Amino acid sequence: MNLAVQLAPNNQRGLLLKNSVMTASGTFGYGTEYADFVDIQRLGAIVCKGTTLEPREGNPQPRLAETPSGLLNSIGLQNVGVEALIKEKASMWVGWQVPVIVNIAGESIDDYGRLAARLDGVAGVSGLEVNVSCPNVKSGGMEFGTDPKAAASVTRAVKKASSLPVIVKLTPNVTSIVEIAEAVAEAGADALCLINTLRGMAIDVSARKPSLGNICGGLSGPAIKPVALHMVYQVAGRVKVPVVGCGGIMSAQDALEFIMAGASAVEVGTAQFVNPRALLDVLEEIEEFMLREGVKDISELVGAAR
Ligand SMILES: Cc1cc2nc3c(=O)[nH]c(=O)nc-3n(C[C@H](O)[C@H](O)[C@H](O)COP(=O)(O)O)c2cc1C
Repeated sequence: MNLAVQLAPNNQRGLLLKNSVMTASGTFGYGTEYADFVDIQRLGAIVCKGTTLEPREGNPQPRLAETPSGLLNSIGLQNVGVEALIKEKASMWVGWQVPVIVNIAGESIDDYGRLAARLDGVAGVSGLEVNVSCPNVKSGGMEFGTDPKAAASVTRAVKKASSLPVIVKLTPNVTSIVEIAEAVAEAGADALCLINTLRGMAIDVSARKPSLGNICGGLSGPAIKPVALHMVYQVAGRVKVPVVGCGGIMSAQDALEFIMAGASAVEVGTAQFVNPRALLDVLEEIEEFMLREGVKDISELVGAAR
C-alpha cells in the first residue's frame, strides 16, 4: 500500500511526504509539544506556527472562544521570530525523519521575501507555507490573500528568494477563492493549502462584551468543514498544482472527503485540541479504509468524487 505523496512535483527539491497527513499551522507548535502524546515521526509533515521576521507577543487575552462545533481564535501570530526559529527549532528538526514546513507571515511583500531568503538553505527546513490568510493581525496577513494581484506578488517574492517548495495558504474570506488560487498558481506556487479560518466573533452576554480580546477571530473546527470542502473541490478542478485540504478535519472520514474532492494531502488542526492523537487516528483509519477497499495507492482516491 502506498500512502506517499509528492507535494511539489514542479520544484527541483520536491516535497515528498510518506503519507498525506499533515499538521495545520498554529495547532502543533514547533512539533515537540506533542512528542509525548504521538510518534511525530510517523506524520506526513509538520507545519509549524506562523513565523514573522521579529518575535511577536500576539493579541490581548482572551484569545480562544468555543462555539457550537467550532473554535474562535485570535492568537495574533504570537511566535519566536525567524532568528530564534532557526537557532532553536530548525537545529532540532535536522535530526527528524518528518519534514518540517515553516509557515511564514509578513506585513509587507518585502517581509515575505526576506523571510523566504533567510530560511533558504536552512538545514531542517523542508518547505515554506505562505500565510496570506491570517485574519487576526492588524496589517499584512489576510489583506494579501484577498486580492489576486497582491497574493501573486507575495508568491513571486517568495519564489524568487528561495528554492524551497512553496505552499501558499489561502483565506476563505473572499468572494472567489478560485480567482485567488489561479493567480497564485500562475505566480509559481508549488502547491496551495486551503482554507485558513473564517472570520467571526462571539459575545459574552454576562460581561456584555466580545468574548475575544481582539473582538473578532478566526473560526475553525467541524463548523467550517463543508465550506472548506467545497472550496477545495472548486479549486482542485482549476489549478494544476497539488492542493492541501484543511478545515474541520476530525476523522479519516473527513480527510477522505477532502482527498476525494481533489486534495493531495490534508492538514489537521483543531481536532488535536480534542484528541491529541487525532493525526495518527486519521492516518491509521485511512490505511484501514484503503485495505478494506483494496486501494493500493492513495493517488487512486485523489479527486475520486469529482
Ligand atoms: C489556535 C490556532 C492558531 C492558528 N495559527 C495559525 C498560524 O499561525 N498560521 C496559519 O497559517 N494558520 C493558523 N491557524 C489556522 C489553521 O492552521 C487552520 O487553517 C484552521 O484552523 C482550519 O483547520 P482546522 O479546522 O482543522 O483547525 C491557526 C488555527 C488555530 C485554531
